[in-house]
Amino acid sequence: MKLDIAVLGGDGIGPEVIEQSVKALKAIAEYYDHNFYFHKALVGAAAIHQEGTPLPQSTIDTCKKCNTVLFGAIGDPKFDNDPNTNVYPEQGLLGLRKELGLYANIRPVIVYNYLLNNSPLKPENARGTNILIFRELSAGLFYGKKGISDDGNSAFDECIYHVDEIKRITHLAFEAAQRRKKKLTLVDKSNVLETSRLWKRTVMEMATTYPSVHVELMYVDQAAAKIILNPKSFDVILTANLIGDFISEEASALVGSKGIMASASIGEKYSLFEPIHGSYPVATNKGIANPVGAILSAVMLLEHFKLQEEANSIKRAVTKAMELNLTTEDLNKEKPLSTEKVGDFIADYILNPDMTNFNIQNIYLGQSTII
Ligand code: IPM
Ligand code: MN
Repeated sequence: MKLDIAVLGGDGIGPEVIEQSVKALKAIAEYYDHNFYFHKALVGAAAIHQEGTPLPQSTIDTCKKCNTVLFGAIGDPKFDNDPNTNVYPEQGLLGLRKELGLYANIRPVIVYNYLLNNSPLKPENARGTNILIFRELSAGLFYGKKGISDDGNSAFDECIYHVDEIKRITHLAFEAAQRRKKKLTLVDKSNVLETSRLWKRTVMEMATTYPSVHVELMYVDQAAAKIILNPKSFDVILTANLIGDFISEEASALVGSKGIMASASIGEKYSLFEPIHGSYPVATNKGIANPVGAILSAVMLLEHFKLQEEANSIKRAVTKAMELNLTTEDLNKEKPLSTEKVGDFIADYILNPDMTNFNIQNIYLGQSTII
């Protein structure tokens, strides 16, 4: 398969983790004989510095010319702490979602057995957690009209949903539930918000088309508690933009490391894949950032293009790295590997799937992993 992939490393640790993800994809291309072409472009603070805007037109053009986008991270404390700025790196990501029509953000929350002890939950509560969150990404509070009064003493953010914006993501969520444990939980605040009541009505109407899926309705405050108390009770979660931002972040904390989590953002025509972690500014260029979230984002990319065998190959390599404790300091305090070395091992394993003997010592010495 030929794929043109826009590579937007972004800020902080973004570029270095995305480099490992590209490395894994290059290994896949080599092993399975695909043609993947990578096209770098600027976004976020990096783009503000060079072009004066967080989302240059050239970046939008690159993304639209490509089949898909691989995205690193966004954010720079310099802008967070500057009260006089009206340009933020985050506008780059929000603008890109809008430009590319990415309406569904999909985040798998899986507690892997090898990370059970890293989860803040008791192992018996965390074990077996496997949630797929569908967060609406192109409307709602994030994109409503906002404003502040002349005297600066009052402000507003409008939340609007059109039924069509609800339907398109709801279809995706139902389809996923059909392939999984056939349970869909709509998380909302329909005891208070009109938009939530529209979500509820729409989802209930659509449920008749998916009779095999059990629909559960849950207020967001209750869901926030249940994700901690009984995460295993969830299968697919469907929710609006802002609620999804909070809930998915909360759920990600169960996994044991934010560094290993991936996400997909899907639209009619375009798609974007990114780790869920932020730009982690203090870790930039120190070689300590975990590249696994970025590498698993490449897995979601391959699955999106129906390259399941290829996706599984990366998953196997990641699992092997984790089992052998070949990972970065967030998960391995004793003998951490650098970002690059973790990426090297995973790429090596993809190219040598039958590898059973590893010269672990060589990996630490920066030499070949293969005997
Ligand atoms: C996310 C991030 C973004 C969001 C920020 C960076 C605008 O937190 O992808 O969840 O809130 O959507
Ligand atoms: Mn977020």
